[in-house]
Amino acid sequence: MQSIGGFGYIDGLMCCNGIPLTEVIASVPHERGFTPLYVYNERAILDNCAALNSAFPQAKKRFAVKACMNLEILRLIRDQGFGFDVVSHGELGRAKLAGARPEEIVYAGAAKTDYEVSEAVGAGVTIVVERPEELPIIDVAAISQGLETTALLRLRPNVDAHTHRHLTTGTAFSKFGMPEAAVREILENRVSASGYRFGGIHFHIGSQIDSPSCTAQAIGVALPIIDEFNLKLLDIGGGFPVCYTEDGSAPCVDEFSREIYNAIGDRDIQLLIEPGRSVVADTAVMVTTVMSVEYGTDEEGKPWRIVTCDAGMGDNPRPMLYDAYHQIWPLVAGDPESTPTYIAGPYCESTDFIGRGLLNLPLLKRGDRLVMMHCGAYVRAMASGYNGNLISPEVIVLSDGTIKLIAMRQSFGHSIALELVA
Ligand code: LLP
Repeated sequence: MQSIGGFGYIDGLMCCNGIPLTEVIASVPHERGFTPLYVYNERAILDNCAALNSAFPQAKKRFAVKACMNLEILRLIRDQGFGFDVVSHGELGRAKLAGARPEEIVYAGAAKTDYEVSEAVGAGVTIVVERPEELPIIDVAAISQGLETTALLRLRPNVDAHTHRHLTTGTAFSKFGMPEAAVREILENRVSASGYRFGGIHFHIGSQIDSPSCTAQAIGVALPIIDEFNLKLLDIGGGFPVCYTEDGSAPCVDEFSREIYNAIGDRDIQLLIEPGRSVVADTAVMVTTVMSVEYGTDEEGKPWRIVTCDAGMGDNPRPMLYDAYHQIWPLVAGDPESTPTYIAGPYCESTDFIGRGLLNLPLLKRGDRLVMMHCGAYVRAMASGYNGNLISPEVIVLSDGTIKLIAMRQSFGHSIALELVA
């Protein structure tokens, strides 16, 4: 196995930036067990931020908080010169706590409530308008608070990002943004409003975008609008892909930046990007512990091994939602077994497998630990309380080797508190 985000084997033991994960695991409070556990590598986050800063030197970077909302991680990313892309009251609160100034926050969201619009206006952040219905709400909120809001219009450019069908957002049928005609109509009638001004055009065509040419194609739809209405800002969202497999590849951020700057040409406009996955996906792993191992054969006589662990769909729902593949490696390296291995979780659902048909895992027994790669983006952020799951802790290995707890394990008290209303 090659190192992923600074996670790799040293003398047969999985390490993070040279620190054995056994040490990291031993450092967490463990009244109810050590795992599941999310482990981040600070060095890898800094490297990914540096790569984006160098690929997009003049662009404003707004980290998509939805990918990873841990406050410490947000602060770290903020310190690298990033602002934030938020989509809710909860994410706005985190962005503010992480130290972002209002002008460094863009607020999107497919169904903003009146409360959220009013809060966003009051906070002075830039609002990404996804539907015409939002405009009068923004107008009233801004006028009543004596403010003027900068609004970006989210364009649905009718461009296919050639990604998983659940991750594409810019095609003709999509709940996000507005078709070109609707965006133009709003811009043509803009005179009526005094509570906001249009700062520019926004789009986000999807996540895990297959090729930079898809983004360039969407830019090609946005630019005529920018030119015609003399707008000064283009926000192209996120979507830079990450390779999750052992042997695949994904275009890097430099390839994207080349095509993007080419498509924009010498126009004098401000570029904004909203990367999420490319900043954090490879920078964390999830450690889980084996609870049982069973061998069997299916109806056709094909052998299988089911390894049931303490992490599953409540800890990483991506395999169930998107058929997502995450590499899973043993904490202690060993010769692979030839039986196709299925990694099951503890949840009471037959779909609860976080790995299927794996051929790289050694002989395993209860108590052994497994390490799931690429768990920095959309993993802990999408964890759920299903089956009474108490969300697992997060730790970070700092660049100087210090191990720091950055989120406690949720307690039963935390989980039940909101229901103790009587
Ligand atoms: N900007 C907007 C408006 C977005 O909707 C998103 C992601 C991003 C930026 C960041 O995109 P990224 O750079 O991370 O691709 N839960 C799914 C991913 C959903 C992405 C939603 N929007 C997953 O686990 O793959």
